[in-house]
Amino acid sequence: MKLQEMLGIKYPFIQGGMANIATGEFAAAVSEAGGLGLIGSGGMSVAELEENIDKAKSLTDKPFGVNLMLLHPDVDEMAELMIKKNIPIVTTGAGNPAKYIKDWKASGMIVIPVIPNPTLGVRMERLGVDAVIAEGMEAGGHIGHMTTLTLLPQTVKRLKIPVIAAGGIASGIQMLACEIMGAIGFQIGTAFLATKECPIHQAYKDKVIKATDTNVTIIGMNIGIPIRLLRNEMSREYTEKECLGWDKFQLEKFTLGALRRAVREGDVSTGSLMAGLTVAQLDREKTVAELMKDLYDDYLIEKEKFTNGY
Ligand SMILES: Cc1cc2nc3c(=O)[nH]c(=O)nc-3n(C[C@H](O)[C@H](O)[C@H](O)COP(=O)(O)O)c2cc1C
Repeated sequence: MKLQEMLGIKYPFIQGGMANIATGEFAAAVSEAGGLGLIGSGGMSVAELEENIDKAKSLTDKPFGVNLMLLHPDVDEMAELMIKKNIPIVTTGAGNPAKYIKDWKASGMIVIPVIPNPTLGVRMERLGVDAVIAEGMEAGGHIGHMTTLTLLPQTVKRLKIPVIAAGGIASGIQMLACEIMGAIGFQIGTAFLATKECPIHQAYKDKVIKATDTNVTIIGMNIGIPIRLLRNEMSREYTEKECLGWDKFQLEKFTLGALRRAVREGDVSTGSLMAGLTVAQLDREKTVAELMKDLYDDYLIEKEKFTNGY
């Protein structure tokens, strides 16, 4: 796979920069184990982001990156911090990073926006980004409207730059399918929630490990902010309020701090248990090293079966 060459890593995996979860310590653990660790800026202040970058630098010499949450109120300051701290790789989520790309590229950074549709990918390519992460709605957290099966091949067809697949990947066969559709590597979020190093509360982690396929739901579709998560008291109440016609402002207020409550306090009733459709494939806690090795070995087995005929 070409992602390893592009980023200087052992395995073709980017650990998604998950808000309130992906700390400098976690990103460094992933990078040390051979993937690309990302620090998630979502939920951090500018000072906290800087501290997390310094922490990651103290823990690994391997490449790591930052996921810049474009809806963050201090996004301009954070975008400058990327340059000041010499961050080699930046990914962006929840929007269009157009205004930062020129300066980032001038400072030599590898820029990889996350895109939910090929149209945004085309715009990003014109602005000179290095690759895109095409994230299908199988993913956990904030999602778009296209599935990986439709988004990935359409993006590959319309773009000349490399495309990394995300959304619904947690096994060798899913990796191989994405490779066949043109992906050069994979970004994974949900499967990393079930790792020993992942700093979420054990109660949240246990819910992820025990979840079945029917435990996953989407909230916020009616108000245009769909989020995929595990069903609980919060998601049920949210859906009721959505049906009663609560507006975007009221519903956003209702979920304010809900992910943080699940991550920090282990509040699995009123917290937001963001997770994607691969949760049912996760049956035990693994180290990040075990997870990536197991996935890569499984991919090699599937690839051999595919090459030699099933
Ligand atoms: C709990 C959680 C939080 C996330 N937060 C962010 C975020 O802050 N920024 C972002 O670009 N993507 C975020 N994502 C998406 C991941 O980076 C990744 O693209 C996605 O999880 C891949 O799909 P998967 O969940 O099927 O593995 C989040 C995902 C999860 C599960």
